[in-house]
Amino acid sequence: MHTTRDGRACLLPSFGQAGDDGPTLSICLRCRDAREDSNSGLELRGGRRLAQAVAHAFPDSTAARRGIRLRGVNCKSNCKRSCAIAFSAPGRLTCLFGDLDPTLHAGDVLCVAAAYAEAEAEAGYLPRPARPEVLRAGILARIPPLGFAGDLDEPLCLAPRHSTRKSDNP
Ligand code: FES
Repeated sequence: MHTTRDGRACLLPSFGQAGDDGPTLSICLRCRDAREDSNSGLELRGGRRLAQAVAHAFPDSTAARRGIRLRGVNCKSNCKRSCAIAFSAPGRLTCLFGDLDPTLHAGDVLCVAAAYAEAEAEAGYLPRPARPEVLRAGILARIPPLGFAGDLDEPLCLAPRHSTRKSDNP
């Protein structure tokens, strides 16, 4: 156990520090999951339990050996698709996922984290067939980095006559 910057005890292992810029797995610590109701007796939110499960398996994982960093985040504004995670790194796609179960999916998350860590040549592409089922259906966003020059990126032309797409021109 370590303490947060404001001195509170933290149940999670020390995650990556702010300023780290390698491939990073961000886990929302505030997500609630379906098991949280007034009778569940659960003291921790689903997101924090998912983070604990990931952190527990992390030291022996391929993701760790490939240099993935872990980070806790307080809400990604995807609360209706909890539990939510994201992969990001400079120059790579940012990929956001939801609908994760903290009791079931820590291994799947680390599997995709390992794939993201080695996807440098493809700018963070995580092909659908290479992802576990829960992370196929649960993808919420895939955002190209600034300066990205690939199929997902196209200059925005406000005047249709300047469009490079045939379908945009009469
Ligand atoms: S609480 Fe997790 S995305 Fe909002």
